[in-house]
Amino acid sequence: MSTFTKPSMQKSSRDDAEQLNRAFKGLGCDAAAVVNILALRNASQRDSIQQEYETLFSDDLKKQLAHELHGHLKKAVLLWMKSPIERDVTTLRQALTGPIFDVKAATEIICTRTSSQIRQIKQVYTPTFGTRLEFDIGCHTSDDHKKLLLAFIAITRYDGPEIDSLLVEDDAKAINKIGLKKSGMDESTFIQIFTERSSAHLIALASVYHKMFGKELRKTIKREASGNFKYALLTILQYAVDPTKHYARVLRKATKGLGTDDSTLIRILVTRAEIDLQKIEEEFLKKYKRPLPEVVHSETSGHYRAFLLSLLGSKY
Ligand SMILES: *[C@@H]1O[C@H](CO)[C@@H](O)[C@H](O)[C@H]1NC(C)=O
Repeated sequence: MSTFTKPSMQKSSRDDAEQLNRAFKGLGCDAAAVVNILALRNASQRDSIQQEYETLFSDDLKKQLAHELHGHLKKAVLLWMKSPIERDVTTLRQALTGPIFDVKAATEIICTRTSSQIRQIKQVYTPTFGTRLEFDIGCHTSDDHKKLLLAFIAITRYDGPEIDSLLVEDDAKAINKIGLKKSGMDESTFIQIFTERSSAHLIALASVYHKMFGKELRKTIKREASGNFKYALLTILQYAVDPTKHYARVLRKATKGLGTDDSTLIRILVTRAEIDLQKIEEEFLKKYKRPLPEVVHSETSGHYRAFLLSLLGSKY
């Protein structure tokens, strides 16, 4: 592998900061060195490298990285250097108001965060961009999809294990009624159930709905809803039922067929690297019969590839 040099063990954050500064010097940036230093540093190490860099060179490391790196590598490394909340906030803003409207990214982030994570996102979003998340969603999405997202970020959901079986049955019946209608879906029922109920409730609902009516909830959503609204409902359901499988599926979609959805690939690998990437990798192999590092290797190149493979802990 020409682009993969053995990751260096850390001597100290100070030493890392000095090495990064050296990598930036001269003609062009030594991107291999940057990847080598940063890819295998954990969150607290990355924070302390940024502090050391500031102390030693009176300069902002993130700004310097933005200046020195390019393309997908730049995007991936800058996202990596942020905290989880900062990542969500900047990705949401970019997805909603950037030059390329990335409705899937915005929907995916919102529909997979807990109420308390969403509360933190909203708290940081307003002072960072001088506008509220609700406002950006309101301006850039539409119809049922908009109603669903706005309700999802407004409501505080219970996220414990207790469920109310009677309410589960009521919801199953209500959804079945939607399916029986000839035309004109009652989207408000879907919106209420999918924004107010806990993950445990939705898991029970899928199973009770299947037992009572012999139908799969996922298929009913696919039949009754459409477009971005359907995508949001399926995301909420699939994430509730199995987050690992959800991310494996998103990665598969980003990499299969012609071309690669690099922003999705970067977003999922960077944001899950320190949470459950290993489990996602196992699920991916089980479900799609291909090792994720092999897929990433075939879809990417250069230092960008080396960086993503390092996040996967792979020397593929
Ligand atoms: C980060 O890595 C250092 C060095 O290996 C370790 O001491 C520290 O506990 C790690 N921190 C986290 C949050 O994993």
